[in-house]
Amino acid sequence: MKAKKLQISDDASNQHLSVLLNASKAISEAADYATLLQALLTIIIKHAGAQRVFLIKSQGDSLILEARAQTNTNGVMVEHVHCEANWDDLPKSFISSAIQTKKLLYANVGQQSTPYDLDPYFQRFSVSTAICLPIIKQNQLIAVFYIELWEHDKLFSDEYLNVLTLLTAHAATTIEAARLQNAIDEVNQQRLKLERALRLADTSLALGEQISRTGSWRWELHNNTLVCSEEFCNILDLDPQRRTISFADFAACIHPEDKKSVLDRIRYAVQKETAINVEYRVLKADGSVLYLTGQGCPVFDSDKLVDYVGTVNDVTARRAAENALRVAQDDLARVCRITTIGQLTSSIAHEINQPLMSIVANAGAGLRWLHRAEPDLQQVSASLQSIATEGQRAGQIVQSLRTLTKNTKALLSKLDIHDVLKCIVAIARREIERRNVSLELHLDAKLSQIRGDMVQLQQVMLNLVMNAIEAMSEISNRPRVLTISTFTKEDQVIFIQVEDTGPGISDEIKDHLFDAFYTTKKDGMGMGLAICHSIVEMHGGELSAVLRQPVGSIFSFAIPLVKD
Ligand SMILES: Nc1ncnc2c1ncn2[C@@H]1O[C@H](COP(=O)(O)OP(=O)(O)O)[C@@H](O)[C@H]1O
Ligand SMILES: [Mg+2]
Repeated sequence: MKAKKLQISDDASNQHLSVLLNASKAISEAADYATLLQALLTIIIKHAGAQRVFLIKSQGDSLILEARAQTNTNGVMVEHVHCEANWDDLPKSFISSAIQTKKLLYANVGQQSTPYDLDPYFQRFSVSTAICLPIIKQNQLIAVFYIELWEHDKLFSDEYLNVLTLLTAHAATTIEAARLQNAIDEVNQQRLKLERALRLADTSLALGEQISRTGSWRWELHNNTLVCSEEFCNILDLDPQRRTISFADFAACIHPEDKKSVLDRIRYAVQKETAINVEYRVLKADGSVLYLTGQGCPVFDSDKLVDYVGTVNDVTARRAAENALRVAQDDLARVCRITTIGQLTSSIAHEINQPLMSIVANAGAGLRWLHRAEPDLQQVSASLQSIATEGQRAGQIVQSLRTLTKNTKALLSKLDIHDVLKCIVAIARREIERRNVSLELHLDAKLSQIRGDMVQLQQVMLNLVMNAIEAMSEISNRPRVLTISTFTKEDQVIFIQVEDTGPGISDEIKDHLFDAFYTTKKDGMGMGLAICHSIVEMHGGELSAVLRQPVGSIFSFAIPLVKD
């Protein structure tokens, strides 16, 4: 490698100065990195009359070909490529040497012998002169310019090299700034993308909340405020634009009748650092009432309870549907009761007729005692007493029929289950006799006070008794016996058992016994046992059916006893 020949034309200095000024202008005016590269490479290649100029950037351990300019018949073509440097297309030994020394390297490859003559690239292509100019900033290699001339009569002048050095020093700052700007732009693009994704997620969440009528919130315990979603504000009738409310604002939304219990439960959960689960109503400004459920999970920071996050659900529609279902179930239960009672009319008529006959007989007797020459007032009084007792007996039956057919809401009260059984036996007695069934009553339980709904329990007993009678109607080769018994267990629960000597329950029937509308009878409705099952469940028991030995079946359930 040798110093290059000087070929300075007369107006060379002016020309170089104008190149520098042009380059400076182009560099400072470049709107973006690509324009900057285009301007820089064009000036370098044109000014030297070179064939090829490469800008190779160092990136970590690798070299990246950033841009390439080539002179061809159409002029100068600049490409911004940004790919790994391809050593088939560049003199590796020459460029590596410049990178190592961080110094400008110049070689008249085609004209003198140089250390790079054996470089495969120089072997393949007839390059006349090559320059490699490292761009250094704060002693760090940022990039290299590789420039080559193909024409043997042309050389790089010293001025050109000086201009080049000045240009690259200037370019170093700009390339670095542009690179940083590029990086910033990329980060900004990423940020915009993320923001867009976030906005999209936010919109989807808001839409999801709106559709499912679910609001979300975060309760920051340190300042006692709730950061809440738009839907949360919508549900609670707050301004949807308000995203932060105080806990007191929230508490003010709760229906006055629910407020104390809800706040107590929340306070208890916070104290125990456990999940919040509450149900409450909200009175809206238009007077309507919403039914809400709220769930919250505690959030800890280094074992310290800091926040609660959770949701609020508007379950008003579900509640309305549940209520409608309950009303429908009540109506159905009533229809079933009336249907069963309809089957018992002759039995009931008989049951009422008996006291009426007795009243008539007693009245006759009383009158006779009164109309005697010497009226026996004691006997008259006894007859009147009997009339009153029998009247009450008839009245009670009528009363229990009225309650059984009325559509009343379930009313839990303390009652004697034996009274329920006796009442049902009274209503069904005649039917039992008519069907040739013998009744055995074993009301052995010493304690029989329970908490329950009289009408519902009567319905259970009526269904079980009627089923037992109906099951035995086909039996002709053995006695038809209906046994109703009660007994207690450890003074905690009372068992009520209805046994029959019918056909028993086959495996196939057993699986569907308590299903709604399951019946094996021609005129059956299949609702009796389904209703019994849910009533017994509501009373804290479970209705079960087993085979009776040697024949028949046993239906039984247990209800907790209440003590005085
Ligand atoms: N004591 C019983 N013995 C045998 N089978 C019974 C007995 N009680 C109920 N079953 C069976 O259970 C079915 C459902 O009873 P239920 O729900 O009261 O409806 P329904 O009496 O209208 O058929 C009956 O059709 C019958 O097949
Ligand atoms: Mg039935």
